[in-house]
Amino acid sequence: MHGGINRPEPGTGLKVHFKDSKGNHIKTVEVNEGDSILEIAHEYDIDLEGACEASLACSTCHVILPPEYYDLLPEPGDDENDMLDMAFGLTDTSRLGCQVIMKKELDDIIVTLPAATRNMYVDGAKPTTH
Ligand code: FES
Repeated sequence: MHGGINRPEPGTGLKVHFKDSKGNHIKTVEVNEGDSILEIAHEYDIDLEGACEASLACSTCHVILPPEYYDLLPEPGDDENDMLDMAFGLTDTSRLGCQVIMKKELDDIIVTLPAATRNMYVDGAKPTTH
């Protein structure tokens, strides 16, 4: 088992195109509505970490979306924005991959992996505010 999601029958799913930080195509995969980008990445062996398993406590699932797709998503919540602030290589169209849930309108989305991730919160260390 990888990400615990089901792969659609070839030719029936929504398409997601993964690119690396330099814009090189990594792979195109087919997925179902309701799958998150993080689950999809794990299922298809894309190098997206997701250290906190979608509990909004890390920024290692950071991905960069095309603006036209970014605009189709619900606004990020405060928790997501807090984590995004810590993401390395943050852009105006960055999201946390575990919060991007596939739907029909997102068919053919291009998901770009950031240049690097910063793992400082991965092993349980919590940021202190004072
Ligand atoms: S996996 Fe940690 S916030 Fe998405």
